[in-house]
Amino acid sequence: MAPRYEVDEELEESTNRVMLIGAALMIGMALVFPLYRWLEPATREEAREEQLASLAEKGEDIWSFNCASCHGLNGEGGIGPALNSKQFLQASTDQQTELLVAVGVPGSQMGAYSLDYGGPMTTEQIRAVAVYIRSWEADAPDRPEWRDFPLTND
Ligand code: HEC
Repeated sequence: MAPRYEVDEELEESTNRVMLIGAALMIGMALVFPLYRWLEPATREEAREEQLASLAEKGEDIWSFNCASCHGLNGEGGIGPALNSKQFLQASTDQQTELLVAVGVPGSQMGAYSLDYGGPMTTEQIRAVAVYIRSWEADAPDRPEWRDFPLTND
């Protein structure tokens, strides 16, 4: 003979309630993750763009105080080559520019700017100035003669 239990209706009801809440939570979590994964790249891209914009702003100050005297306020060239030129910007990656600015060009007027090489700048400052230089690329003029320096007026 099967044992007979008394059905505790109150207990059963509260068990059902807990199970229902549990199921609702699981469905909620299952929905939140794809939503998060869908939104997250846009958030990261936004954060990246903000970071680059803020670096470029710092880089502009660094440029005008440290580089403009030789390369021109807008990178048009002078004592040093014109960095605001399609040719330079296409030839040099940011990493190459940063390395060159860090180490300098021995035997030329282009000094070493990194603290590690006796210069005045942190890695972050050099990065900032490279990001600023990169910001010219969108409308950089075509200047195949960008390495003809010093710029003369004749
Ligand atoms: C005293 C003048 C002077 C100052 C200041 C100066 N430069 Fe230069 N820079 C030069 C000269 C000259 C060259 C070319 C060196 C060579 O190749 O003979 C050069 C080369 C460069 C190049 C390499 C271009 C190439 O040939 O690929 C970069 C990049 C550059 N400078 C960035 C900077 C930045 C950024 C600053 C400021 C932090 C700066 N320079 C400050 C004179 C200067």
